[in-house]
Amino acid sequence: MTKKTDSEQKLWGGRFTEPTDSFVERFTASESFDRRMAEQDIRGSVAHATMLCTKGILSADELSAIKTGLEQVQADIDSGQFEWSVSREDVHMNIEAALTARIGAAGKKLHTGRSRNDQVATDIRLWLRDQIDLIEADLSRLQEGVIGLAQENSDTIMPGFTHLQSAQPITFGHHLMAWNEMLERDYSRLMDCRDRMNVSPLGASALAGTSYPIDRNQTSDMLGFDAPTRNSLDSVSDRDFAIEFCSFASVCLMHLSRMSEEMILWASSQFAFIDLPDRFCTGSSIMPQKKNPDVPELVRGKSGRVFGHLVALLTLMKSQPLAYNKDNQEDKEPLFDTVDTVQDCLRAFADMIPAIQPKKENMRAAASQGFSTATDLADYLVGQGLAFRDAHEVVGLAVAHAIEADCDLSDLSLEQLQGFSSLIEADVFEYLTLEGSVNSRDHIGGTAPAQVRSAAVAALLLVKARN
Ligand code: ARG
Repeated sequence: MTKKTDSEQKLWGGRFTEPTDSFVERFTASESFDRRMAEQDIRGSVAHATMLCTKGILSADELSAIKTGLEQVQADIDSGQFEWSVSREDVHMNIEAALTARIGAAGKKLHTGRSRNDQVATDIRLWLRDQIDLIEADLSRLQEGVIGLAQENSDTIMPGFTHLQSAQPITFGHHLMAWNEMLERDYSRLMDCRDRMNVSPLGASALAGTSYPIDRNQTSDMLGFDAPTRNSLDSVSDRDFAIEFCSFASVCLMHLSRMSEEMILWASSQFAFIDLPDRFCTGSSIMPQKKNPDVPELVRGKSGRVFGHLVALLTLMKSQPLAYNKDNQEDKEPLFDTVDTVQDCLRAFADMIPAIQPKKENMRAAASQGFSTATDLADYLVGQGLAFRDAHEVVGLAVAHAIEADCDLSDLSLEQLQGFSSLIEADVFEYLTLEGSVNSRDHIGGTAPAQVRSAAVAALLLVKARN
């Protein structure tokens, strides 16, 4: 039997006869990235130790030494003095070893009735919950910005599109409130995820629970969880919550990519619907005239890595037998990068969107092209007693004529229009105007400025009610 030196001695080294291969040590370690959960790991340890003391498993002195020691470890981490060691494998063993180095015997008792399996499951949930609360704030700020811009533009007319062809006039405010609907659903998905994940795996231990008389309710309460998890096997193997989070993030980034695409189009000189402030754009190193919408382009591009992380986590979990497997260590990098990406993208949009300057005249000019009020003429004829299909036919003929004459429907004279249907009267022009068109869509969910204004007030109340 080879004697192990102190520095080679692992916290789990007892049954081993040779030191870990140095490549394997690096290959299996996670400390370089899971140290992001150090604060949560310490919080979990304090709760666990406190519970052990309540149950008489640790003495009051031991608990106090552990708490003081962990505070010092946290201070070392915060000040950058902590010496992370790859030979300690992960955040859990780095911290435990540092604690024992500081306080001696009591440190060795911290892991009583606990395993890294329930420890890591607890840490990730605590960490993700903290991040979700930050994301919630960014998402709400973005929604407030979108709704605010909608309120300023409740009667700004622009073309509405289907198939990216001019369809009917809408208000810019209405378009923005559609964005808010997407974001509101994202918010509710995020909250669903938070609600379902907020349970405490601590006490599941390695997989089967522990023979110590632990109190799982106490640790759950101390850590702000709603309840302890119900099955120890599931507790240490479940990573659904990370998948659900990445699924929220993927849908959210998909939405942000759609918003990005529209802003990029609108900022182009061909559309010229909006101006993005210079501070959110960059120039070209060769073409002096360029002002590139880099921020929305980058957000659009970043959706790809988030979708990738979702698929990575699904694939990681697929076919894994119960309970914990080392595969699960691979959950962290995709999850961390997803969190970072969502936070950055939401922040960029929350800063940028309120600063968008609409070019109202251009939007309006575009809305008056492309026969966007053709449906209004058909609806007018229905009001005059014609069946909708017949009205559709009449307007189709009028549009064909206008294309031929290279003008809009509203440019045709009353006599010309009456040539297509005798039901048309002088009041038809009220319906062919852009204002007439948008004002007439005055029902729940319609584009009329009055509806946009009340939708915005209601949406803002929802966002404000969150805090
Ligand atoms: N670093 C590990 C992880 O992230 C902690 C749990 C390790 N447990 C074990 N039995 N190897 O999953």
